[in-house]
Amino acid sequence: MNIILLGPPGAGKGTQARRLEVERDMIQLSTGDMLREARSSGTEMGERVAAIMDAGQLVTDEIVIGLIEEKLRGDRAGGFIFDGFPRTLAQADALSEILAKHDATLDAVVEMRVDDAALVERIVARSTCANCGEVYNDITKPIPDDGKCTNCGGTEFKRRADDNAEALTTRLMEYYKKTSPLIGYYYAKDQLRPVDGLGEIDAVAQSISAVLQETS
Ligand code: AP5
Repeated sequence: MNIILLGPPGAGKGTQARRLEVERDMIQLSTGDMLREARSSGTEMGERVAAIMDAGQLVTDEIVIGLIEEKLRGDRAGGFIFDGFPRTLAQADALSEILAKHDATLDAVVEMRVDDAALVERIVARSTCANCGEVYNDITKPIPDDGKCTNCGGTEFKRRADDNAEALTTRLMEYYKKTSPLIGYYYAKDQLRPVDGLGEIDAVAQSISAVLQETS
């Protein structure tokens, strides 16, 4: 099964994708994570995207489509979870072409609905394990008292450079201008499956599970 998790910054896409990886043997493909890896490797492409990401703007379609194409050549396990991709209509068209090339299909587009006020609260309180990427939140999912990651035992945690109010305003504008048209695009293809992303993490996971159950 191949699915897209679609939603604004902070909607909980990464949090839910990591759960689906464990529960369904799926592979999370997060273009945000791939780009962060590229920028930390000090490559020319990494340097080019760093400034764009920190400002909260979208990286070019060409770069992210190339990253996804590369990953789809590898192991497919129980399918892919596209997290943060596609983000433009051009990326959505490219994804359908790439999947067709691999004789694969897109089974569902899970739209995670969360209002803007909650997004701001979630983003400014976020941190991640520097070792495994497990996502934490100062309010809703704090780092355990012993200071160790629940997933890998790591003790170093980091905050993202674009998790500040200024960059978030741009990220939200980019989402509404360039990504939200995908809601209509996938609705027209009868692939859109909206879920309430405002509930607790477990409740959202259950809603996604129910959607995927109906789809399979
Ligand atoms: P990316 O890394 O994809 O960031 P994003 O889409 O802005 O999404 P986030 O990772 O911020 O949020 P999320 O929905 O994963 O939420 P999370 O689970 O962490 O992209 C970063 C940048 O890379 C972009 O701005 C762009 O520059 C570039 N980029 C990436 N992909 C691109 C593409 N395809 N094209 C062009 N450019 C691209 O949760 C957030 C917080 O909320 C956490 O603290 C979490 O613990 C908490 N939380 C989660 N769920 C709940 C819940 N149900 N209740 C309470 N708290 C919750």
